[in-house]
Amino acid sequence: MISRLAWSEDRGPRLEEFIQSRRRAFLERFSAEPRFIAHAPGRINVIGEHTDYNGGLALPGAVDRWIGVAIEPLADSRFTLFSENFKGEISGDVAAIPAPVKPWHHHLLGCVALFFKTFPSGNGFRATVGGNIPVGAGMSSSAALELALMGALGACYGHSLTGPRLASMCQRVENDYLGLPSGLMDQLVCQMARRAHLLLMDFARETWRHVAVDLGGHVWVLLDSGVRRRLSDSGYARRVRECRRALSLLGQHVPSLSHLGQLGPAHMELMDSLGDLTPIRRARHQLTENLRVGAALEALALNDAEALGELLLESHESLGMDFQVSCPELDFLVERAGKAPGFLGGRMMGAGFGGCTLNLVRGAALGCFLRAMNRDWQGQTGRELSFQVCRLVDGASVRECPDAAPGSRNP
Ligand code: GLA
Repeated sequence: MISRLAWSEDRGPRLEEFIQSRRRAFLERFSAEPRFIAHAPGRINVIGEHTDYNGGLALPGAVDRWIGVAIEPLADSRFTLFSENFKGEISGDVAAIPAPVKPWHHHLLGCVALFFKTFPSGNGFRATVGGNIPVGAGMSSSAALELALMGALGACYGHSLTGPRLASMCQRVENDYLGLPSGLMDQLVCQMARRAHLLLMDFARETWRHVAVDLGGHVWVLLDSGVRRRLSDSGYARRVRECRRALSLLGQHVPSLSHLGQLGPAHMELMDSLGDLTPIRRARHQLTENLRVGAALEALALNDAEALGELLLESHESLGMDFQVSCPELDFLVERAGKAPGFLGGRMMGAGFGGCTLNLVRGAALGCFLRAMNRDWQGQTGRELSFQVCRLVDGASVRECPDAAPGSRNP
């Protein structure tokens, strides 16, 4: 079992290999070549959690796990979507998109419905969808799925859907079709990311920039708590509401405050004077997390992995104590990682209430780190620890398949 934990630079899933498997999946399902293959990566968020819907800062990056969609347009108005992961098919007519029947239908049909509402067409399509981003692990498999499918549909029907426009359209699928009040971070980073860079996002100014990352021999490791909660039942919406309450409470004292991202050290005294109220705790996380993003940028500019690791630990503390989105399994992983060799820092990542912890680990000690963590996790849960070692990669894109033979079926 220990040998399964061994890891080498060459083992991560490779994009080319991934795209070829999507092509083969389409070929097997429909006995034809796809016309386009779109792919979108999952993401890690180094720091800046729950800040996107508060006009704050975040520093995520895309990683080498993907969702891919292989697609071909059809001459009639029928559509067929086959999910390789769920081994199931959805079919219907693009003029009357059916309602979702199973949980995994929701994102797919939400994308199809929004796409054809925006770009009505008499032509349908057939597509296969598959990927290697663990679902519910907090790596944004949903955003990747939305970007890949929407990007594939755009290419298929000749609409140039790229950049932030595509990201916002995918966010609308979550907000308008799934009823989730999620922010824009996941879609934006999975779309705009660049290899070996993080993406600094400023949600108040609606600006972003790529930040080069050179942490030498350090690696990003995700450890999976195995706890799965969907955003809809995770308390995410409650946190969004609590932040709104915090804004209106603090706004009574600071009339110029239009979002929590504007809070700075000068407001700390006011917040302390208001007592230990839930909305104030939420606001305190916003304030301190934004400061940590700033400090993380300085650490990255100096290639200071130790300082960055410390900031991750402080972020975890704040997410647990002030924002209260951690859970015992995530806390256990962070606490034990603190005693494992090669660990510089780590924290719960994403919406929280389950999913993964993100860990910054010395590459040379990776095997020892994973063995120690697996031993502790097995001792605690009786289960083997699932982990992912991630590399920062480029965002989503679509390619046309040279082998596709445009024929009579194509519009
Ligand atoms: C989820 C949401 C994002 C963001 C994170 C928390 O991933 O989709 O918009 O709010 O949680 O940082």
